[in-house]
Amino acid sequence: MKKNVLLIVLVIILFFTIVGCSVQKEKNDNVNSNNKSVVLYFSATGTTKKIAERIARESNSDIIKIIPEEEYKKEDLNYNSDCRANREQNDSKSRPKIKNAIDINKYDTIYLGYPIWWGTNPKIILTLLDTYDFTNKIIIPFCTSGSTEISGSVEDLRKYNPNLNIKDGKRFSTNDSDEVIKEFINRNEIDKSNEVINSVKIIINDKEYIIKLEDNETVKSFINILPQELNMSELNGNEKYIYLDNILPTNSFNPKKINAGDVMLYGNNCLVIFYKSFDTSYSYTKIGHIDNLPNLGNSNITVKFEK
Ligand SMILES: Cc1cc2nc3c(=O)[nH]c(=O)nc-3n(C[C@H](O)[C@H](O)[C@H](O)COP(=O)(O)O)c2cc1C
Repeated sequence: MKKNVLLIVLVIILFFTIVGCSVQKEKNDNVNSNNKSVVLYFSATGTTKKIAERIARESNSDIIKIIPEEEYKKEDLNYNSDCRANREQNDSKSRPKIKNAIDINKYDTIYLGYPIWWGTNPKIILTLLDTYDFTNKIIIPFCTSGSTEISGSVEDLRKYNPNLNIKDGKRFSTNDSDEVIKEFINRNEIDKSNEVINSVKIIINDKEYIIKLEDNETVKSFINILPQELNMSELNGNEKYIYLDNILPTNSFNPKKINAGDVMLYGNNCLVIFYKSFDTSYSYTKIGHIDNLPNLGNSNITVKFEK
């Protein structure tokens, strides 16, 4: 009898262990698979950290702490004195060093968290923007503070680097409910899905250019097939072209004049970059235009197209 009870208990323990393991695995898989957002935060006394962890959990994002090379001690934060934090905030050139290397390449969305110091972001956030390339990323700021709203710091960050896509963000209090956190994440997800992409980056011979895109169906399909690295052939001393593997929608017309920098679709799958201006009798669907495109020379080239 005793033996049977023991056996049943063992079977129950085994069952829960197996179920527990598979649930845990599912959780881990969720975290690692296709995770394109990260919560990147600086927190001197732990308030922003708590919010950062909740945002990461609710949005299924990775989380990375911005660690100052020199940690902020209590006396560094005593804002009623001539403390280190005050001195940094008053010095436009101050860029406190970051201790850890941060890999942002795999993320397209960055939840960027910080405390408000004297109405704005701590200077270490500027060090971050100076150190890593945030172009083409969506930056969603969040902050904690005694009472100051986030808008002043967002305005300052946008002025600091006008090329960045910085959303309005939100200030949180420690007692904000999970619903408030979820609403913040959902609102930004909706914004993201409505976002119109109006430019893409191309790289030719290690140099970056921007294609300012047209607003048409061809462009929408073209964006969907990026990124691509294409070997484009030279033609006639004025253009590089490639026949794409994909058929794109067309709405072709005869532009009469081709301008250097025009990016066109010939037929339904021939992508052309023109690097000289000339009159034409052919019809194309316009994809966009590259300002300041130089003469691309008389050989075939490799071009990287990135969103
Ligand atoms: C140097 C310094 C300046 C601050 N300036 C402001 C401020 O302008 N407005 C405000 O509401 N809170 C201000 N605070 C309070 C912090 O923003 C607040 O305590 C924050 O939640 C701390 O976040 P942390 O624990 O993640 O560092 C300041 C704090 C420090 C240390």
